[in-house]
Amino acid sequence: MENNKNKILVTGGAGYIGSHTCIALHEAGYEIVIYDNLSNSSKEAINRVSSLIGKPIEFIEGDIRDAESLRKVFTAHQFFGVIHFAGLKAVGESVAKPLMYYSNNVSGTITLLEVMAEYKVTNLVFSSSATVYGDPETLPINESSKRSCTNPYGQSKLVVEHILEDLATSNKQWNLINLRYFNPVGAHTSGQIGEDPNDIPNNLMPYISQVAVGKLTKLNIFGNDYPTVDGTGVRDYIHVTDLAKGHVDALRYAEHQTTPVGFMPINLGTGKGSSVLELVTAFAEVTGQKIPYQFTARRAGDIASCYASADKAKQLLGWEATHTITDMCADTWRWQSMNPYGYKAS
Ligand code: NAD
Ligand code: UFG
Repeated sequence: MENNKNKILVTGGAGYIGSHTCIALHEAGYEIVIYDNLSNSSKEAINRVSSLIGKPIEFIEGDIRDAESLRKVFTAHQFFGVIHFAGLKAVGESVAKPLMYYSNNVSGTITLLEVMAEYKVTNLVFSSSATVYGDPETLPINESSKRSCTNPYGQSKLVVEHILEDLATSNKQWNLINLRYFNPVGAHTSGQIGEDPNDIPNNLMPYISQVAVGKLTKLNIFGNDYPTVDGTGVRDYIHVTDLAKGHVDALRYAEHQTTPVGFMPINLGTGKGSSVLELVTAFAEVTGQKIPYQFTARRAGDIASCYASADKAKQLLGWEATHTITDMCADTWRWQSMNPYGYKAS
């Protein structure tokens, strides 16, 4: 049977970035199958994506480490490619449970790649992270910057990158588009889907929005003595719908290659850094909510500044971020205020 250029397997499609990407894929004319073990997401996210796109989505509950379950999916569908979001992502948890992280993120990816190879599906878009750059020597960070990681989560991404590089060297059939995300924030403009962390958020934007909605009392700002514009950490925040569009453009790029590109790392960021205080101020201004905060000690493992050179994404994919920090705050707040308990009813 001929490879169906429209059908995409989305592992981890029930998650934060995956759910937004499913909408972008649908809008671009792709057919989607979601494969997710719901370890960090809920079926409700898929229901909401279905209602936003106006049609049911095929969902298979399964683990990427389960080769037999994956084979069933690949036997039932002819995929053009896989967008591989499935994985665990909490840095602190990865330090406490390294084996769980290597098993999910590394073993899981190997199993997925083996099944893809069996079924001759050779187009992959992988969720890597700016974390692979460690503490960057120069800014903005381009794709050939040195890579190093200090925690098991980051290591798991770096190990997968090396596996993908080796795979591309061993066999010239692969398009392995390795997207390195900077700091994804924001939510779909409908307010229907967004980031829904379990417990207390680790990341800045969900923490701010939970302070704004009254679930948390005060933001702790981790350090105000960094060599940055105001002493607080600087990051490249990118709207999740811009990020989602980047995946569609990556697939189109793979589709248009006459010779497979092998391993292709591409940054997805805006190219602009914002400090913690700048984000807090923007959020308060855009939403009219007060964000009480206090300065505390630096968080172990944090770096001062991190922002992307987004030139390669523009050159190769024709992609660039279009949403501003104001959009990111407004959309986060719409999602948070419409869904104070996330996907749970209360
Ligand atoms: P998320 O936790 O919301 O989504 C990940 C999804 O994968 C969840 O639905 C989870 O249930 C599923 N999953 C986890 N392990 C699985 C397994 N073994 N089998 C099947 N499904 C499994 O996270 P996200 O923010 O949407 O991130 C998506 C990807 O992007 C992850 O690989 C993450 O490491 C990477 N990433 C995220 C960020 C970020 O800040 N959000 C930054 C850089 C990279
Ligand atoms: N911060 C606070 N208080 C908080 C949370 C964060 O001051 O409660 C600060 C941090 O010190 C940092 C900035 O806000 O300066 C951003 O922190 P995040 O935790 O939101 O994001 P990180 O850049 O530390 O890390 C995130 C993901 C990583 C990923 C990386 C790059 O957690 O997994 O972005 O994509 F690798």
